[in-house]
Amino acid sequence: MTDEEFLQRFEAAELADFRHADHVRAAWAYVERDGPDRALTSMLEGIQRFANAKGEPSKFHYTLTRAWVALIVDARARYPDARTAPALMAACPLLMDAHAIERFYSAATLGSDRARASWIEPDRSPVTAAKAVGTGGSPVSGSTVIPDPFDRFARAVEHAQSKGVDTAPAALGTADARGRPSVRMVLLRGADPRGFVFHTNYNSRKARDLTENAHAALCLHWPTLEEQIRIEGSVVRLPADESDAYFAGRPRESQLGAWASEQSAVLPDRSVLEERVRSVEAEFDGRAVPRPPFWGGFRIVPDRIEFWYGGTARLHDRIVYLREGAGWRTERLFP
Ligand SMILES: Cc1cc2nc3c(=O)[nH]c(=O)nc-3n(C[C@H](O)[C@H](O)[C@H](O)COP(=O)(O)O)c2cc1C
Repeated sequence: MTDEEFLQRFEAAELADFRHADHVRAAWAYVERDGPDRALTSMLEGIQRFANAKGEPSKFHYTLTRAWVALIVDARARYPDARTAPALMAACPLLMDAHAIERFYSAATLGSDRARASWIEPDRSPVTAAKAVGTGGSPVSGSTVIPDPFDRFARAVEHAQSKGVDTAPAALGTADARGRPSVRMVLLRGADPRGFVFHTNYNSRKARDLTENAHAALCLHWPTLEEQIRIEGSVVRLPADESDAYFAGRPRESQLGAWASEQSAVLPDRSVLEERVRSVEAEFDGRAVPRPPFWGGFRIVPDRIEFWYGGTARLHDRIVYLREGAGWRTERLFP
């Protein structure tokens, strides 16, 4: 393998999802090519060259991949029969352990005087870690420590959008007074520490459910990134001025559609709807369309938010945030 091919291979691993399996494969490639003794050094050189070519050297990446090489060297010594990266991953549970890397930061392999001479201390601040871990895949992985779920959410959305993912669609689950659930898609139109906002007709079935039982759940799924976010909490109506502001920014046809639709009521014939649209068009001809009093936003004030990151062999990462007083407690769940 030439240096160039090797860098391409590393880059492919970088730009694919930088999850455990990719770290393992990238580190494995160094060990395979150069042997355990030389792997750390050549990996560092390789990444430096790669980073320079891209014009964006990432200190954290040197460190992270060094740690993965160390893990591979160690695992190969313990499982000599595992001759491929997947075989090694299957044999060595440590490699699939999201916290392994953190343990290895302080291990002798990386903390020795020799290693320290060229050692770049990992920057553990969440922002740097997020940028580094997620060059190609998720900006945050299951092993990134982020105390605030809204911060994690905002970063996840920013990253997904940078990959061309439409992050607005979300499945909204509600339940009626008897506790019977129903679910439908809505568009998530706001997310900040106050909660998650969508807009709808206040006479719709979902709004009726929410009046009877002011709790809801949202589920976002971004298949190309293998990420899922689940949000659960209590629900309040958006203040009128916030609904007004959102409505005012909608295209005129959507505004007219909101007036024309008795969402969730029985429509005897489509022509009835079309006739209603013509009627509201005439009514608001030549003037701004105000927000209908029966239309507006809901805000889900979450008490539980779960981030799911797809992993290999069904060893997904699940990080759940549970509201506790003024803050949040995090837990990791079995996949
Ligand atoms: C991708 C997508 C996004 C949607 N967004 C909304 C929305 O933001 N608000 C809304 O009221 N309905 C939205 N709908 C329609 C709802 O899924 C649903 O059909 C409608 O709100 C009536 O639901 P209900 O009878 O349970 O109240 C969307 C549908 C899809 C497929």
